[in-house]
Amino acid sequence: MRADRSNIVETVLDKPRSLGDLDSRVALFGHPIHAMLVAFPIAGAFWVAASDAAYWWTLDPFFARSALWGAGAAFLMGCAAALSGFGEMMLVPGARRRAAAWTHGVIAMTLLAVLALNWAHRIEDFEAAVLPWGLALSGLQLLLVGFAGWHGGKLVFEHRFGVASPEEDGDEKAGGGDLAHTP
Ligand code: HEM
Repeated sequence: MRADRSNIVETVLDKPRSLGDLDSRVALFGHPIHAMLVAFPIAGAFWVAASDAAYWWTLDPFFARSALWGAGAAFLMGCAAALSGFGEMMLVPGARRRAAAWTHGVIAMTLLAVLALNWAHRIEDFEAAVLPWGLALSGLQLLLVGFAGWHGGKLVFEHRFGVASPEEDGDEKAGGGDLAHTP
């Protein structure tokens, strides 16, 4: 039995879709770079907080050093994520027009400032820096990263930033086909 290959050929030879009002402009093969990078500062913030808590519990200097490296990594990857987010704000017309995107940017820049402070505070004496202020900054960082991450998710899942619209992209190819026809 021969399979119907017309759909596959059509997909491969499809003309590039013109960019919409909310489509990502800072993307690699259509996948937003910001979405790829934000995982690193988010994971870094949890790493620092976990290391601080472990140091508090054990007083083992290994965990204080781990927090120092985690704080540096979280800040540097946070800068890369913020740059890509800033690029989206400048290049995506629909992003600049929506208050939600600016709100997300402000929360994220506050987070970036706390990430920087948390790293700088540890550089001179990473062990003495943990209790109490290092731990306090890590707690604040967790709150902010949760807020920025949750709000970023809202931009994508509610406002549909960077999400190809099924109507524009041709029903089933974008995953927006009629589910009633799915076997
Ligand atoms: C380190 C700081 C930041 C974190 C942790 C963060 C977090 C996130 C997350 C989790 C998403 C949803 C991604 C997805 O699920 O696909 C997102 C989307 C977005 N963020 Fe951020 N963000 C940060 C910085 C910024 C900055 C500084 C701006 C702008 C000034 C910005 C603008 C955007 C925009 C426009 C989107 C939607 C489009 C896209 O995903 O590219 N972000 N952010």
